[in-house]
Amino acid sequence: MGETIQAHGGTLINRLVQGEAREQLLEKAKQLVQIPINAWAISDLDLIGVGAFSPLTGFMDEADYTSVVQRMRLADGQVWSIPITLGVEKALAERIQVGEQVALVGESDNVVYAILDVSSVYEADQKLEAVNVFKTDSDEHPGVQKLFTKSSTYVGGSVQVLNRPQPEKFGEFYFDPSETRRVFSEKGWKTVVGFQTRNPVHRAHEYIQKSAMEIVDALFLNPLVGETKSDDISADVRMKSYLVLLENYYPKDRTFLGVFPAAMRYAGPREAIFHALVRKNYGCTHFIVGRDHAGVGDYYGTYEAQEIFRNFTSEELGITPLFFEHSFYCTKCGNMASSKTCPHDKADHLHLSGTKVRALLRDGICPPREFTRPEVAEVLIEGISEQLVSAD
Ligand code: ADX
Repeated sequence: MGETIQAHGGTLINRLVQGEAREQLLEKAKQLVQIPINAWAISDLDLIGVGAFSPLTGFMDEADYTSVVQRMRLADGQVWSIPITLGVEKALAERIQVGEQVALVGESDNVVYAILDVSSVYEADQKLEAVNVFKTDSDEHPGVQKLFTKSSTYVGGSVQVLNRPQPEKFGEFYFDPSETRRVFSEKGWKTVVGFQTRNPVHRAHEYIQKSAMEIVDALFLNPLVGETKSDDISADVRMKSYLVLLENYYPKDRTFLGVFPAAMRYAGPREAIFHALVRKNYGCTHFIVGRDHAGVGDYYGTYEAQEIFRNFTSEELGITPLFFEHSFYCTKCGNMASSKTCPHDKADHLHLSGTKVRALLRDGICPPREFTRPEVAEVLIEGISEQLVSAD
C-alpha cells in the first residue's frame, strides 16, 4: 500500500456525527435558532464536514476571516486563500449570542444539516473582501456578484454535520477525502496529480494531464460540479464527456474520476491556492495549474495563478504545483505543444475561444479533432441540444 500525504494542517478533519449522538443533536436542534442556508452554504458545510477544507472545522470566525482576506493565512499562520463564511440576515444574526448553538437548516428543503457552535458574529467589509480575493469589486465579476448578494453579517463557529446533501446524479463519483485517500493507497499510488476543471476536457487539458502523468503514478480527474455561472456547460453533460474520454483515451489503471462538489468562485490566483490545498486533502501530491486557472474574463493575468504560489514555501503548501504554459495544437509540429516546446508562428497554432467552441457545438458542428476528441464533441453536442430544448 502507498502512503498518503498529510492533510492540510496535519489532520484530516471529520465533523460528521452519526448514530445515537446524531439523533440527540437532531432533537436538540429543534430548540435552537434556525438559520436558513442555501445550496452554496450547504456545499461548503459538507466539504468542511468531510475534511476537504481541513484544517477548517467550521465557518470562519472574524480573526480567521480578516487574516485570510488580508494575508492569505488563517489567524494561526497556516496558508488559506479563500474565505469560507456563513452570511446570516442581520435581523436574525442579532438574535444570536456568541457561545450559543444554532441549527443550520436548508432554506428550500428544511433539512437540519448541522449544529454550529457560535464563536463569532461580525460585520464583513465585503468591498475589501472583493478587492483582495477577486482583485475587483465590479459586480460584473460572477464571484463578486455572488458575494454581494450574501448578507455581510457573518456567523463563525465549528460545525457538527447531521445530514448531507444527496447528489441527484452520478452518485457513484462522489468520494470523500477519506475514501479517495484509501483508494489511492490501495492502488499503491505514491504520487497522484489532481486536475481541477469546470469544462469539458479538450485536447489542451488532456495534453497537460498526460504530460503530468509521465512523472507521477496516477491522475485524479476532479471536476468541480457545484454552482458555476450559467453559461458554463452543465456538470451533467460534462460528466458524460469525461466518461467517454477516459474510456477511449486514458489508461484505466492510472486514472481516477471523482467529483469536487464545491461552488466555483472564479477567484483566479487565490482560488488556485485553495484548489491545490483542497486536493491535498483528497490525497493528491501534485496539482496542475495551467493558464488562467479559475479565471474569468480579463480579471487575471494568464499566469498569475501560477505566480501566486511564490508567496509560500513548499513546506507550508505541502502539495507540489505543476505549472503548464498555454497549450495548443500546432499544425507544423503535428502535435500538441506550448511556447516552451514549439518554435512555430502563432498562425500555425489552432486557437479556439470557449465562446467559439460553444457556438460550434450549439450548431451541431464538431470542433476540429485537434481541439476536441470526436467522442467528446458528440456528447457535448447532444447534451447542449438537450439543454437548449429544456430551457425553451
Ligand atoms: S478552471 O476554471 O477550472 O481552471 P478549466 O476547466 O478551463 O477552468 O481549466 C482546468 C485547468 O486546465 C486549469 O488548471 C487551467 O489553467 C488549465 N488549462 C485550461 N486550458 C488550458 C490551455 N489551453 N493550456 C494550458 N492550461 C490550460
